[in-house]
Amino acid sequence: MAVSRQEKRRLDYKPPLFTITDVDLSFSLDLTKTRVVQKSKVKRLTPDLSQPLVLDGDGLKLLGVRINGQECSFTETAKSLTIPVSEKEFWLEVVTEISPADNTELMGLYVSDGKFCTQNEPEGFRRITYFLDRSDVLSRYTVHISAPAGQYPFMLSNGNPVSDSTQDGVRTVTWKDPFPKPSYLFALVAGDFDELSREFVTRSGKKVQVRLYVDRGMAPFGDAAIDSVLRAMKWDEDRFGLEYDLSRFNVVSVDFFNAGAMENKSLNIFNSRYVLVDPASATDTDYENVLSVIGHEYFHNWTGDRVTLRDWFQLSLKEGLTVFRDQEFSSDLGCRAIERLKAIRVIRGPQFAEDSGPMAHPVRPDYVMEMNNFYSATVYDKGAEVIRMIHTILGEEGFQKGMRLYISRYDGKAVTCEDFVSAMEEATGTDLRQFRNWYSQSGTPVVTVSMNYDERTRKCELTVKQKTPPTPRQPEKKPFVIPIKMSLYDRQGNRIPLIKDGVPAAPVQIADEESQSWLFENVPERPVPALLEGFSAPVKLEYPYTEEDLRILLMHAEDPVSRYDAVQSLIINYFYRNAENFERNLPFSEPKALIEAYRYILNSDMDRRFAAFVMTLPSINSVIENFRVVNLDAVFAVYRHLRDCLVIGLRDEISRLYGRSLQVYEERVRTPGSYAVTPEQMGERALAEFLLDFQARSLTLSGDAAGAAALVLHHYRISDNMTDTLAAMKTAVRYGLSSEAEILGDFEEKWSGNPLVFDNLFRAVAMAPRPDTLNRVRDLMRHKCFDIGNPNRVRALIGAFASGNPECFHAIDGSGYEFLTETVRQLNRTNGHVAARILTPMLALRRFDRKRCDMIKGCFEKLLGEPDLSDAVYELIDKSLRHL
Ligand code: TRP
Ligand code: ZN
Repeated sequence: MAVSRQEKRRLDYKPPLFTITDVDLSFSLDLTKTRVVQKSKVKRLTPDLSQPLVLDGDGLKLLGVRINGQECSFTETAKSLTIPVSEKEFWLEVVTEISPADNTELMGLYVSDGKFCTQNEPEGFRRITYFLDRSDVLSRYTVHISAPAGQYPFMLSNGNPVSDSTQDGVRTVTWKDPFPKPSYLFALVAGDFDELSREFVTRSGKKVQVRLYVDRGMAPFGDAAIDSVLRAMKWDEDRFGLEYDLSRFNVVSVDFFNAGAMENKSLNIFNSRYVLVDPASATDTDYENVLSVIGHEYFHNWTGDRVTLRDWFQLSLKEGLTVFRDQEFSSDLGCRAIERLKAIRVIRGPQFAEDSGPMAHPVRPDYVMEMNNFYSATVYDKGAEVIRMIHTILGEEGFQKGMRLYISRYDGKAVTCEDFVSAMEEATGTDLRQFRNWYSQSGTPVVTVSMNYDERTRKCELTVKQKTPPTPRQPEKKPFVIPIKMSLYDRQGNRIPLIKDGVPAAPVQIADEESQSWLFENVPERPVPALLEGFSAPVKLEYPYTEEDLRILLMHAEDPVSRYDAVQSLIINYFYRNAENFERNLPFSEPKALIEAYRYILNSDMDRRFAAFVMTLPSINSVIENFRVVNLDAVFAVYRHLRDCLVIGLRDEISRLYGRSLQVYEERVRTPGSYAVTPEQMGERALAEFLLDFQARSLTLSGDAAGAAALVLHHYRISDNMTDTLAAMKTAVRYGLSSEAEILGDFEEKWSGNPLVFDNLFRAVAMAPRPDTLNRVRDLMRHKCFDIGNPNRVRALIGAFASGNPECFHAIDGSGYEFLTETVRQLNRTNGHVAARILTPMLALRRFDRKRCDMIKGCFEKLLGEPDLSDAVYELIDKSLRHL
């Protein structure tokens, strides 16, 4: 334990003393005794011949070390191998033995359901062999995989297959990757699979063989994924001018995986959750996720693989940019407004929570103990927003010019976020000096806008102030460059042209000082400002909107995000007002403006999916982000009250519209096979889900619980797709309807053979805000589908409870905290990274009341007493306690 627990600092970066130009790896596969022979050509990078070679390792059994073919001396510690050498260039040979079957951490080489696979990002390669396991050492890989003939029909690695031969019953397959790459992009897969294949012809006429490997018998579930690969290849050519660079592209689906997927060069490895879909078992969202994750990993080929990272502090260089690219991909192929709302929800939920908590870090972190903890909403999603702001400032053309310079200048190199920003500056002649604060400063800026309108001069002055609260190690902040896309509307909802200094002003105004003002001229009446259109910056925006202002924006704003935000503001204002009423023991107010807003939406011809998005209440977790100190009990009570007021106030509309929805639905299911993931159908289903929930609640509130149960059961019974099935199941479980048992029983009978689908039941039960939920979660941990060693199961049951059910998780008796603590303690022994991940909802303890805060502290102390606490869990707890 004393060995690590050391933070690394970004500014301590030193270039490597050695590099490995070529590496030849031979694997003799065996479940518990895999032999790895590494032969590397090592080159010294400094003139100082006295420096020994120091290699990274982790949990390896060392069988031999040679330099230039000769046995040599060395010193081995738990995490390193030091070899005194004085040559400038030499051959290194390292033989290690590892046990993939015992690798429960799922980092390095491990076994997933009988198949060998690897996950080496960020520092997994050192669990395979002693190596310069850092992203700025780029090597050419040749890989030989050997196993008893017939054992593993498919043996894959990066690059191109070069030979396949069998001798004395041992088959050896050799792969060669012509592109130098860091060790984190190395991959190996061996096992039996169904193989899907397609051919893609690049725009310059090169043929690419695309292969997808899935569990035997699952081939029909792989069609959407492999089609998505081809769509991604085409889109990257069309929008970014980037062509695929090898004649082979492989994707493998595995069941045991710590994250979503991994971009290993030409051998992407995926969590099966983002590959396997079919109409009967996948939701509309599952289909969308497959497209975006396949796109994401494919796009890494240029932004991550060809141009890679100098060090892990630069993670957002590839992740922020690649998330931006996958968001654009999904928007160009699907619905831009909906994609934007999905991204906004991530920022206002988990990302704002991270920014306001003890783990707050800049998009480019400065201090890291366990790198795995920094695969965060800040690095990924806020990082994508930072790229999006650059795009907003430069425009598509300027941005693409910058991209071309970035790629051509840094191809084959390991670079930094700074290099990306400079390429953007140089290509377009833009000064982004102050913009760089987005990379260095953590925390969410609060932008406060006020208006001064002068009827006589027809001048409208907006005063724009920004302030960013202190975050760990950053008490003071400099102003950010905040692009604020905006419009002014008159009371009839017409846009008023923006005129500044007598000339038309750009729709994107830049706020870059602590306080500044913008003077708009020729404004005929006191306008309603639409601010932060398209969510043009990841900030909290405050403006004293009246309910009438918000009504105008909801009805007339051209930007869909402004319409969405109008309703969000009404909701948040309702929470502010009534959390206060709760604390003062005053009765709750009537949400009149909201009921009117919902009535307007329900009666409008708005896009149905968009309407469902707008009317679905924000998660409790994102509501919490609007309070500095949170009274959880107040938030829970207001939430329930608001929902029931909406249900009662809109009873007639809901009942009529659910009736209409049901009719459309019944009509469609009469034609078998008519289910399709089209925008129209997705819209119908999304709206039906919202209406079903409200209608069931409405019937329950008016004393007709039996009617609600029957309604939901009918919705479930006629369903021919997972989206409608789950809508019914979730409603039955959420409200504890009497048809719940029948629905759960049927679902179990149909799907308990498919754990990925069964996860939906885990999530539905875990997220129901009911007093008996924790006991049900505990029971489900004994279900035959549950496996604490599989991260998907852990996230679906335990993760969903802890982060998707705040009412139960924060139960005042501490039962939620105790349960999570027990589970984290157990998981820590087998998979510290997953343990750390599910601990996240406890980190915000400082913002809770005394009682809850103390209970969480007690849990943390218990965990700190645990022997062999992983760095991942330790870092989170340590930072939380320091933050108090
Ligand atoms: N680079 C992966 C991505 O596409 C992230 C990732 C995959 C990962 N597997 C991991 C991160 C395991 C940490 C641990 O975003
Ligand atoms: Zn990524």
